[in-house]
Amino acid sequence: MTPRRILYLNPSAHLGGAERSLVGLLEALDRRAFEPLAALGHHGLLENALRRLGIACEVWPWPPALLRYGRYHANSAAAKISALAQLPSYAVRVRARARALAPLALVHSNGIKSHLLGAWIKGGAKLLWHVRDFPPAGEAGRLLGAAARRADGVVANSYAVAQAWKARYPRLGGRIEVAHNGVNLPQFAHGQGELFRQRHQLWPGAPLVGMIGVLAPWKGQEIFIQAARRVLDVRPDTRFLIVGDDVYDTAGHGGRRQELERMAAGLGLSDALRFTGFVDEEIADAYAALDLAVHASTRPEPFGRVVIEAMAAGKPIIAADDGGVPEIIRHGENGWLTPPGDVEALALAILKLLEDQDLRAKLAGRAKSDVKLNYSAESHALRIQAIYNKIIGGTPV
Ligand code: UDP
Ligand code: GLC
Repeated sequence: MTPRRILYLNPSAHLGGAERSLVGLLEALDRRAFEPLAALGHHGLLENALRRLGIACEVWPWPPALLRYGRYHANSAAAKISALAQLPSYAVRVRARARALAPLALVHSNGIKSHLLGAWIKGGAKLLWHVRDFPPAGEAGRLLGAAARRADGVVANSYAVAQAWKARYPRLGGRIEVAHNGVNLPQFAHGQGELFRQRHQLWPGAPLVGMIGVLAPWKGQEIFIQAARRVLDVRPDTRFLIVGDDVYDTAGHGGRRQELERMAAGLGLSDALRFTGFVDEEIADAYAALDLAVHASTRPEPFGRVVIEAMAAGKPIIAADDGGVPEIIRHGENGWLTPPGDVEALALAILKLLEDQDLRAKLAGRAKSDVKLNYSAESHALRIQAIYNKIIGGTPV
């Protein structure tokens, strides 16, 4: 059997949840059945990760205005117009490139800009939109609505996201399926926590509470910092970690690390809270270094890959109760849920879990068995491959 060629389109090349999820999928993909190729919007860590897997990877650099166009940026009308004006000529160029990669059985798009691009370049191939965010407002949302009929299938990373896309684009309704993300279980089970603490000069032996994630405005690091202040007032031996960095490919992100550092210093946390910046290959070690993991998004989290990574690392997790998170976490069973944006509730939850070692062990133990059962990279790949077969086979999704 000749493997069927799939072109993966990813708008960015930094390593966030969408990209880590894609890498996990491609690691577990059955290469006898599918031949993956990738086209990215710019150079970066994702490119390296894909090349390490032996995946042919091209960079189709986005024109600057399109690259800057994003939901975190207060785009002026002129910026929006120039971003949208650059789309067609870019699409013509990349369509020619996509034709050169024929025969493609499928285009799998992994991000809003890529969904639009996929609709332009698909030619005779089928198109699968992998939707990982809530549908955007404004022009991007309207363009997606117009492009939606070109998608042969849609897979959402959570029921919450699927529901939102169905509500926004009723025409997509019957074509949307859900596939929760998977995680490389052995990788996260074998993180070296002590080593990570040594390498980053983090307090050996101190109870360490950490937050891992991009420093995007809605990820709630400021909620974590304020909660840390309250926790420290009660338990002065506690230490805190923020792992992650600004994302520079979409305007509006930069400078947040400085803001957060200033906030932490202003609250007198300089000696008790550390920022590591972005962590790439040591990511499993970062989780292993923690006693307690925190997710604190202030807007509904579409899925929350950090939640399943913490679970796979065998760490108790406190997570914000919205979006896809409550599909993963059952409060008091395999994790702890707090209302998004609620500093007091987060501080109380951290204190409760720090004080109750049995509860921490119970949550982490259950989390670890749940993640094995429901979120392995292998079962995720099987689910996505079944969707590929359905779409490529021509059966309506
Ligand atoms: N991440 C990372 N290094 C960091 C911080 C975060 O590799 O320094 C990864 C993390 O391991 C996770 C992803 O970024 O896989 C964040 O995914 P999530 O779905 O939680 O949120 P997103 O940023 O995609 O909205
Ligand atoms: C997006 C979402 C995040 C999700 C990730 C992987 O980045 O923001 O919640 O976990 O995609 O599907």
